[in-house]
Amino acid sequence: MDKKFKRTTVTSALPYANGPVHIGHLAGVYVPADIYVRYLRLKKEEVLFIGGSDEHGVPITIRAKKEGITPQDVVDRYHTLIRDSFKEFGISFDVYGRTSSEIHRQTASEFFRTLYDKGEFIEKTSMQYYDEEAQTFLADRYITGECPHCHAEGAYGDQCEKCGTSLSPTDLINPKSAISGSKPVMRETKHWYLPLDKHEGWLRQWILEDHKEWRNNVYGQCKSWLDMGLQPRAVSRDLDWGIPVPVEGAEGKVLYVWFDAPIGYISNTKELLPDSWEKWWKDPESRLVHFIGKDNIVFHCIVFPAMLKAEGSYILPDNVPSNEFLNLEGDKISTSRNWAVWLHEYLRDFEGKQDVLRYVLTANAPETKDNDFTWKDFQARNNNELVAVYGNFVNRALQLTQKYYNGVVPACGELTEYDQATLDEFKDVKVKVEELLDNFKFRDAQKEAMNLARIGNKYIADCEPWKVIKTDPERVKTIIYISLQLTANLAIAFEPFLPFSSEKLRHILNMETFEWAQLGNTNLLQEGHQLNQPELLFEKIEDAVIEAQVQKLLDTKKANEEANYKAEPIKENIPFEDFEKLDIRVGTVLECTKVPKADKLLCFKIADGLENRTIVSGIAKYYKPEDLVGKQVCFIANLAPRKLKGIESQGMILSAVNHDGSLSVITPEKEVKPGSCVG
Ligand code: 2FM
Ligand code: ZN
Repeated sequence: MDKKFKRTTVTSALPYANGPVHIGHLAGVYVPADIYVRYLRLKKEEVLFIGGSDEHGVPITIRAKKEGITPQDVVDRYHTLIRDSFKEFGISFDVYGRTSSEIHRQTASEFFRTLYDKGEFIEKTSMQYYDEEAQTFLADRYITGECPHCHAEGAYGDQCEKCGTSLSPTDLINPKSAISGSKPVMRETKHWYLPLDKHEGWLRQWILEDHKEWRNNVYGQCKSWLDMGLQPRAVSRDLDWGIPVPVEGAEGKVLYVWFDAPIGYISNTKELLPDSWEKWWKDPESRLVHFIGKDNIVFHCIVFPAMLKAEGSYILPDNVPSNEFLNLEGDKISTSRNWAVWLHEYLRDFEGKQDVLRYVLTANAPETKDNDFTWKDFQARNNNELVAVYGNFVNRALQLTQKYYNGVVPACGELTEYDQATLDEFKDVKVKVEELLDNFKFRDAQKEAMNLARIGNKYIADCEPWKVIKTDPERVKTIIYISLQLTANLAIAFEPFLPFSSEKLRHILNMETFEWAQLGNTNLLQEGHQLNQPELLFEKIEDAVIEAQVQKLLDTKKANEEANYKAEPIKENIPFEDFEKLDIRVGTVLECTKVPKADKLLCFKIADGLENRTIVSGIAKYYKPEDLVGKQVCFIANLAPRKLKGIESQGMILSAVNHDGSLSVITPEKEVKPGSCVG
């Protein structure tokens, strides 16, 4: 750590308690934060890891309304579920608090009041939608209507979920209140604003000049906000769920969720350390680091620092390592579409395999760009890396120690050149991993740790102690001695990344504790040290297990498509005479063949009661030609002929287009004479 700091306050974004957490949360914020904190703890540094639930905001009230329960019921349910999921994954918070707690209400109110008393806010009135029936102002999410861009119904006052456009409530065509369904009216309301424009000068200097080391994605986003010019931001809302605005005449108004949530980090520290919390937040020798996802950058790099600065007694963040997003099998993770791997479900389906997910999410971490999680990659990384490299090496070293020496560390004999080269190779791993971890490059750091396992795996495979034992048993002692030292080093190097496996390995190696300073030490286990019985660290994941997960996602996709299906709008009316112009007939398929060099086309010979005809139709993806022979189909008989792949098509076979785009040919319900008219 930088010499000017004595301790590190690490925060991780407080997830909204309105749904369970998924792999995107873990990969984006909590696994990297936990790796970092575990690393600092192993280095015996003073560190505090703060987490908790974000329990305010409109989506929570919407969910409560939908379920007919109170917002408090909603957050009680998810706070517990989320907290337990994190615990199971070894996310080692020192405190996991919640923003509906009394201590948080007090802390956030006081914070607001201090800024208010110092004159750090401006008060403004503006016109906002009001529901006269429900007698309440409407948050943006509570107003729905037609999207002015794609004309989808049901767009929200802040965004159209169909086309993704950001909206403001007044953009909506035919706005409706989501509470009563009535047409909202405009009404005047007063709010408090944090004048970010006033803070722009120092923010520019502090971020753009003094923190050039921040990740490119974070620095870039801040620069673009600053270059656009900052505007005053409302810090209160008309809502009945949240922390009441603590000033006279503010009835019915609460603090905006993004004002109170980051103060939650402070409240949670207070909850844990009522007497010494201030040193973690106010001492210039404390370093503040926020782990967040990319949608939180502006709040943690601009808004919260402005709040802290305005208050006057707090330190500012030293770094804000933010990740990009993790996608799932090529699609954006989405709670509303149930497109996610939920942590509580993973824990049920992959019992005891927390480290596997931690490993894969770090190996694939979206540190510099959005990344994709696929079940195939998950399986490959488990089977080819954790099992075949790390697990295999450790298991060989431990089993051979049991077999040849009853689990007692043998004496080290004279080193060969190859032994020495191997030891040299892994001695500098410590420096490399440290440099990467200090710079929040967790993916590369884990890769280095895995390289250590590769070195070990290669060493034992090259030395073949199981063969040498027959010719030179003394030499085998040295090979096993070195392999065991490598194993002990691996347990330390992997502790921040794979804490469960390291703990297991530490127990097998019968090591009391370990610390980061020991990494690179090639005499960690002394001659004569007794090991415990070996156990496998990882096991192979079979195809069937992966296929079941993929199938679960396919089922979700299908269910979503069906739920979202809406029939095409009806076309404009036409006069009867226009319909009469169409000559639709029934024909019997005499022959049906694939059209060469055309994936989609089938060529039909159709009995039409006259001279028979040829029709080319684009349904090859949905039918085998032989299955259609003998069937009756409907076709437009008087469509002007046209050439498809050199064949003249004399008409068009009618098909229904299903919701997923698949085609189904139209056949008469009873067999009729070929050439019968349809009408
Ligand atoms: O984006 C989110 O999930 C927010 N609940 C994060 C809040 S972070 C902090 F400010 F509490
Ligand atoms: Zn739209």
